[in-house]
Amino acid sequence: MIWTILLFVLGIILFIIFSSKRSRSESEPPLDKGVIPWLGHALEFGRDAAKFVTRMKMKHGDIFTVQVAGRYVTVLLDPCSYNAVLEDPLSLDFTRYAQVLMDRIFSLQLPHHNPAVEKAMMKQQFSGKSLACLSSTMHQKLQCLLLQAQRARHNRTDWNTDRLFSFSYSLLFRAGYLTLFRGELNNNQTDPSDVYDEYRKFDNLLTKLARTTLKPEEKRTAQCVRQRLWELLAPAGLGEGSGASQWLRSYRHLLQEEGVDEETQRRAMLLQLWATQGNVGPAAFWLLAFLLTNPEAMKAVRREFSSISEQDSAQCPLLDRLHHTPVFDSALEEALRLTAAPFITREVVQPKTLHLADGKEYQLRRGDRLCLFPFISPQMDPEIHLEPQRFKYDRFLNQDGSAKTDFFKGGRRLKYYTMPWGAGTNGCVGKHFAIGSIRQFVYLVLFHLELELCDPEAQMPEVNTSRYGFGVLQPEGDLAIRYRFRHSH
Ligand code: HEM
Ligand SMILES: *[C@@H]1O[C@H](CO)[C@@H](O)[C@H](O)[C@H]1NC(C)=O
Ligand SMILES: *[C@@H]1O[C@H](CO)[C@@H](O)[C@H](O)[C@H]1NC(C)=O
Ligand SMILES: *[C@@H]1O[C@H](CO)[C@@H](O)[C@H](O)[C@H]1NC(C)=O
Repeated sequence: MIWTILLFVLGIILFIIFSSKRSRSESEPPLDKGVIPWLGHALEFGRDAAKFVTRMKMKHGDIFTVQVAGRYVTVLLDPCSYNAVLEDPLSLDFTRYAQVLMDRIFSLQLPHHNPAVEKAMMKQQFSGKSLACLSSTMHQKLQCLLLQAQRARHNRTDWNTDRLFSFSYSLLFRAGYLTLFRGELNNNQTDPSDVYDEYRKFDNLLTKLARTTLKPEEKRTAQCVRQRLWELLAPAGLGEGSGASQWLRSYRHLLQEEGVDEETQRRAMLLQLWATQGNVGPAAFWLLAFLLTNPEAMKAVRREFSSISEQDSAQCPLLDRLHHTPVFDSALEEALRLTAAPFITREVVQPKTLHLADGKEYQLRRGDRLCLFPFISPQMDPEIHLEPQRFKYDRFLNQDGSAKTDFFKGGRRLKYYTMPWGAGTNGCVGKHFAIGSIRQFVYLVLFHLELELCDPEAQMPEVNTSRYGFGVLQPEGDLAIRYRFRHSH
């Protein structure tokens, strides 16, 4: 018996030594396997990816390969060379890794799914007339929820206290949910607050689900919360009377045509809830937080919104006037530069020679992953953005008030100078809807509410470093705010 166990252990040790034997060839990026066999840098990566990648960048430069939980990941940090990655979907595949994550996070497999068809449908549903229609519904829902909150107050002149993150996330999530997944605020239907509460629990486990690092107890919680969300979302987008958006109904239709069963369809609903709601609330939070802690920026945004609200609404409805807001747009872009930190990951499906902008060439091995992390560069690169840690609301504005798009690194004009929305064929299709929603939210909040920090000297909260790589960051801690409704509205 004892010999069997010893042999088994020996076997495992040999396997680990053998499997971590990979060595770097001359033509490959610098290789850093870390000290722990197989696991490599997984722990440090998961704890604070930004810090880890920065450390590796100091050690190896703009391209290097690290071992992470048995996989080899090549990280590229030179934004001048990002095009080489984004424009070769044949060697550098998006879908495979996306499918791995989909299975881990949502327990969802769509084997016969055609991403190109879905993409085309999404693009259409989030642009042109459909977009205008969605934006108008979103505006209505936001207004409705604010009024509801006001009516729920006994004494309307009293100050309410709240925390800015949950205030922003909850309001935008519920409005977005009602706009895309459910029509009316009707008693008989799912209360959007229930969906929000469950979703937040899910959100807190999301990074661990993606990394498969849940503890047994968390695993049970995750299963439970997911089950509950699947049930809440089960009727979404079914039938004319569901009140869901045309987008969701088209999506359901697509799944049905592909022969996807009911259970899997529900799971896909949660995937879409995450894709459409997971980043908007946190982004709106960061923007408002930066505005509240930067009075000059707040003044500039208020001034722009005031001039819009004073224009004649008979000639042009508010929503049409709310499109040209260069100051707001710059402030949002700046907030996202500081807080949007997705990884852009591709799987190397055939051996590939990567040509960098500086003329160097590197071989990539099949089966490895390639990862861009635009948060480090371009977004926080001091060569591109002066004082990158600071929020400057007018960073993306020219002297004449137009949008600034000229940014340079090493004398080269950059195509990618900030990338909160990803890029290439897999960039965010909901970008315009997201920007419009956040703009409406900030506008409504500033006009319906007197909103201030409880502590006027309060500083921006720290970020939760475990979320690097998963879209818009979230704070660790929050900002205490107080607000009351203005009389005139
Ligand atoms: C501030 C808010 C948002 C941010 C920062 C954001 C960011 C992103 C990023 C970075 C990607 C690319 C993922 C990748 O390359 O792996 C993406 C994809 C996507 N986004 Fe957004 N997004 C936001 C809001 C929205 C909204 C409101 C919608 C829809 C209503 C939406 C729909 C999508 C969809 C459907 C995809 C998948 C595209 C594909 O699979 O090819 N997003 N988003
Ligand atoms: C509402 O609150 C304000 C300020 O706290 C107070 O002055 C006022 O008397 C209250 N009104 C009612 C009806 O309770
Ligand atoms: C409304 O609620 C009742 C009881 O909860 C339920 O039987 C009925 O199916 C619901 N109707 C709709 C349209 O959801
Ligand atoms: C940080 O984020 C992780 C994953 O979303 C979550 O589980 C954890 O509770 C967060 N930590 C704090 C202090 O908010």
